[in-house]
Amino acid sequence: TTALPGFRDFYPEDFALRARIFEVWRRVAARYGFEEYDGPPLEPLDLYTQKSGEEIVGQLYEFTDKGDRRVALRPEMTPSLARMVAARANGLKKPIRWFSIPQLFRYERQQRGRLKEHFQLNCDLIGDSSPLADAEIIALSIDVMRAFGLTERDVKVRLSDRRVLIAALKALGIRDDAHGAVFGVLDKVARTATDRSHGALTEAGLTTSQADTLLSLTTSRDWDRQIPDEQFLQVYDSLQKLHGAVDGMGLGAFVEIDLTIVRGLAYYTGTVFELFDAGRTLRAICGGGRYDNLTSAIGGVELGAVGFGMGDVVLGELLKEKGLVPAHAPSIDVFLAAITAEDMPELLKLAHELRDAGVRVEYALGAQQVGKQLKLADARNARYSVVIGPDDREKHQVILKDLRAKGQMPVPRAEIVTELRKRLAGADG
Ligand code: HAM
Repeated sequence: TTALPGFRDFYPEDFALRARIFEVWRRVAARYGFEEYDGPPLEPLDLYTQKSGEEIVGQLYEFTDKGDRRVALRPEMTPSLARMVAARANGLKKPIRWFSIPQLFRYERQQRGRLKEHFQLNCDLIGDSSPLADAEIIALSIDVMRAFGLTERDVKVRLSDRRVLIAALKALGIRDDAHGAVFGVLDKVARTATDRSHGALTEAGLTTSQADTLLSLTTSRDWDRQIPDEQFLQVYDSLQKLHGAVDGMGLGAFVEIDLTIVRGLAYYTGTVFELFDAGRTLRAICGGGRYDNLTSAIGGVELGAVGFGMGDVVLGELLKEKGLVPAHAPSIDVFLAAITAEDMPELLKLAHELRDAGVRVEYALGAQQVGKQLKLADARNARYSVVIGPDDREKHQVILKDLRAKGQMPVPRAEIVTELRKRLAGADG
């Protein structure tokens, strides 16, 4: 049998990449003062049906458990986070800076970069509504990219604000009740044929000319010149100020304002952004934004919030494409070899002494020719080997081989642990 479609087996070389991604995520989040948290992988179904929006609800892994509860595997982290924060809102020092690396489950149609499970770095800043909180979150997402060795030539942040888009739609005379449908069309406009988007817009109630104008705006960069509306220009200005703040941190080259970014999730109320590979051949690496009403909708406590989710799937593909995945080279420090079966008790004793001293040790588990044992040492990328034989045991010594420099020498048995520790701690260890 094989794993279910859309689920991954992590062989050691795959796990090594996953571990590296997690390590970089944790390291950069810590630099911004973020603390790690987690919640349950299984949640009450209604945590998502109320707040996440249709797209996610259509993708839920849901069932009724033996206690007749309607439950779902978590498809995203944000609702669990909103509940956790709201439940302790009074006791937490704000702004709250928390991150998590949950495994998430979505029953999506499988396609490149989209699986039925993925890991997602979530970084959220809660209890602060100032634009600098948004800038901080965007900068963090960019710094994660930089920590992997990706530059502004590899990755772009597309930045928008739902308030700006709503002001633009109002200025174009598009009715409020059509806004939701328009968001849906814009969210997919880059991946959809123009006549299909046009059809969907007129179906949503737009006039042909409104649909024409809106679609021409999606490919233009200067909405501020094309929409001379006071209210629109005011919110557009604050979006540019946010861009300016990220620029002030030296990260401006990563960011482009793109008002077609609306995000699929229902709860965003302001800033929204997505990270893409610059060539735009892959799906989004990361998406986030401001969601000021979720903690009150879920936990009855009003708190401004902004954050993002960054998946491991598209990121992993991009790192492979750019040659930024370090070679998987498992290694150990010392391989122990025994010349005769009588040497085994001494070998086991030394193995344990070394492991107690923090040295990574392996040896052959059955009696074998020394040559064969040393082949295994090679395959394991061992730095040193120690050979134990009857004659050397008589002399209270062992043979230490440097497998890189190819030299060998006898070392007193009483000194071998210290000698190896000293060498492994050295610059060439
Ligand atoms: P999202 O846009 O649904 O946002 O997901 C964020 C990222 O997770 C995507 O850009 C993508 O890299 C990855 N991702 C999502 N679905 C899949 C999938 N089926 N397979 C592989 N990767 C996937 C959220 O989930 C929000 N809760 C993020 C957030 C946190 N907003 C504020 N705070």
